[in-house]
Amino acid sequence: MDWKPNTDSHLTLHDQIIDWIKERIEKGDWCVGTKIPTQRQLAAQFNVNRSTVQLALDELRAEGLLQSKRGSGVFVSNSSWNVLVNKTNPNWQQYIEGSVHEPNYHTIQLINQYEQVDHIIRLGTGELSPDLLPTKQLEESLKEISLESKAIGYSSPRGSKALRTTLCTYLKKKGIYTTPENILIVSGALQALQLIAVGLLEKGSLVFQEQSSYLNSVHPFQSAGMRVMSVLRGKNLPEHLRRLKKNKQSLFYCVPTLHNPTGYSWTLEERIAFYQTCKELQIPIIEDDVYHELLFTSGIEPIKALDTSGQVLYIGSVSKTLSPGLRIGWVVAPPPVIERLADIKMQTDYGSSAFSQEIVAHWLSTGLYENHLGQLREQLKIRAEFVEKILYQKFQSLANWEKPEGGFFIWLKFKKPIVNKALFLNLLKRNVLINPGYIYETRDLYHIRLSYAYASLEELEKGLDILFEVCSEY
Ligand SMILES: Cc1ncc(COP(=O)(O)O)c(C=O)c1O
Repeated sequence: MDWKPNTDSHLTLHDQIIDWIKERIEKGDWCVGTKIPTQRQLAAQFNVNRSTVQLALDELRAEGLLQSKRGSGVFVSNSSWNVLVNKTNPNWQQYIEGSVHEPNYHTIQLINQYEQVDHIIRLGTGELSPDLLPTKQLEESLKEISLESKAIGYSSPRGSKALRTTLCTYLKKKGIYTTPENILIVSGALQALQLIAVGLLEKGSLVFQEQSSYLNSVHPFQSAGMRVMSVLRGKNLPEHLRRLKKNKQSLFYCVPTLHNPTGYSWTLEERIAFYQTCKELQIPIIEDDVYHELLFTSGIEPIKALDTSGQVLYIGSVSKTLSPGLRIGWVVAPPPVIERLADIKMQTDYGSSAFSQEIVAHWLSTGLYENHLGQLREQLKIRAEFVEKILYQKFQSLANWEKPEGGFFIWLKFKKPIVNKALFLNLLKRNVLINPGYIYETRDLYHIRLSYAYASLEELEKGLDILFEVCSEY
């Protein structure tokens, strides 16, 4: 016991004494019930005034680490260990449960976990199979990209000017006429949703969506304190929205082209009617258009192409077409909105990866992107036909579906409500992973989102065999 407080330390003498005594207790040198040396002995050992020791012991008593017994001295208290454990190990569970962000559904957590397991057949994954990614061409293109030092520093708040400029040319082909000032580069479409949630809406505002929605599987608005409400489109929509909206601030989130999870696309008439309704009711629209490039037959334009009043916040991304790992997406919106979102983005991540932005700018400006898209659509069509053939052979008595018009998904509707957690887990036991409809709409026990984009043809065949067997037992 030859320790002494350091008179040169930035800590006071009595704080150092407190830390030293806590360490004795924590290490078990002074276990519960130990009588500690007297104030006089400690003062002599530490070479300090008795009043300094007294101050330290008073604090330790107040914290519950020491207790005095009249006439006997000072002892390490019974509760000292609890006090120390609680102090040194914060109750993380309590922190987690009290935090602002909603957790993922347990089923989605399992999906995220099992997607990393090699032998699992992934029948629901909304991602391109590794052999559909243009890995070799990406590698080749890296050799053609010359980097300027400035371009690989922190990027400007809105993102690379070169990428925003080339995006303007690209978006023109979809009927969207815009300028670099109206574009924000984001780290994937999901970040765009998060920035909109925290940057544009007050707590308690309403976010409308269609029933069965991608939003229910990620929670950006729910976590920011917005109420998400599912509504049906159709001729009653204006009346319905008017009634729900009252005077509340609101937005409509939609995926009108190759919707996730259903894969459906709205007709032009539906787009026009929807746009007019939202305009009349002054409900801004978030158009999430990440699958548009994967339409098997082109023709239909985004709602943003109809937008003459800056009503539509348009979101795109290369995640579903080129590489989700690049984490590059974009928002097209009026400049004040872009400035606001860019300001929050700078506070969040100081901009998207400069390398990824360079790569995407190169692929867009050289035509590599559109060449690749042509081939990709052909490959996806082959896969869609392959899966449809199996469905016709096996599933006609169990389920219905519509012919896919592009993208990744077939929204398989079972005739009975069998798609529950037990079915999900049973399939997992057989190494088949599905995306059940209830992760997109909690009450939906009829649907599975089948993806023909990820698994190999062999795996798709085997996985669908197992799906058929398990579903037939229900
Ligand atoms: C409709 C929709 N929007 C956004 C995203 C997220 O895309 P990103 O990878 O660009 O963040 C997805 C991915 O599944 C999606 O399906």
